[in-house]
Amino acid sequence: MEKLQAALNKARETRTTGDARMPSGSSKKAGGPIGLDDLWQELEPFEVQDDHLEMHRVVTRAANPAATPFDILRTKVLLQMRQNGWKRLAITSPMPQSGKTTTSCNLALGLGRQKDLRAILLDLDLRDPSVSSFLRADPKHSIGDVLSGKVAFADQALRIGDNVACSMANRQEKDPTQLLLAEETAAVIDQIESSYQPDVMIFDLPSMLVNDDTRAFLKNIDCALLVIRADYTKYGQFDNCEREVAEQTNVLGAVLNAYAHKSDQKD
Ligand SMILES: Nc1ncnc2c1ncn2[C@@H]1O[C@H](COP(=O)(O)OP(=O)(O)OP(=O)(O)O)[C@@H](O)[C@H]1O
Ligand SMILES: [Mg+2]
Repeated sequence: MEKLQAALNKARETRTTGDARMPSGSSKKAGGPIGLDDLWQELEPFEVQDDHLEMHRVVTRAANPAATPFDILRTKVLLQMRQNGWKRLAITSPMPQSGKTTTSCNLALGLGRQKDLRAILLDLDLRDPSVSSFLRADPKHSIGDVLSGKVAFADQALRIGDNVACSMANRQEKDPTQLLLAEETAAVIDQIESSYQPDVMIFDLPSMLVNDDTRAFLKNIDCALLVIRADYTKYGQFDNCEREVAEQTNVLGAVLNAYAHKSDQKD
């Protein structure tokens, strides 16, 4: 266990910092190297539609009472990540349909309201991606092409506002575990982080207990949030999931989704 932790720490320390090559097609403007703001501005802009977001329970685009629980979550996550120097947050759950994508999108758009921050949302649920349908986006290329090095992040990610980038899928991948385990994928993630310098990278991952995909990818992550569906998730599933995730990364906590608080119930 200690050995595993030491190996994980070493892998994190040796991640590329600051000197990653720029994504193709965006390294220079006429007149010299471009700055970070320009690099972000060069990402293709994308307008989200509020009524569509609401349909998918994505409510954090503007401050409002429905956004408050996610805003609290955002702030707690951000503070803990900053304290520890962590940048990469995995969102997973024991079983499907727990609210991972809902939580990921709400966190990303909530972070976008903090104008001094930059956030990147990556849809790594490669068997059953859904961020693009939550955001009603139609990316020209799929995130799988970015991870395998065929397409630059600069040419694939879409930008919401000035400070949120989303790398989404437009198809299911045939062999997601291989892609998520690959060293090349780890190098691409390092490169995106060092080029775009996000404060937070959110990875919408598959459920932990249904296949090996999340297990394969967690080595690239600093910390994880577990989304528990109050009306579906069994305690044993949560326990197994928490133990497995904790073997590979830092568990920030669990989000209890869809908990029905009765109005006559004492807190
Ligand atoms: N608190 C909630 N109350 C009611 N419905 C919810 C709640 N949270 C999410 N949902 C709905 O439950 C469904 C599953 O949510 P979501 O797609 O976020 O889960 P997921 O864990 O990402 O699922 P998957 O494992 O398929 O990727 C969606 O239709 C979503 O709108
Ligand atoms: Mg999902």
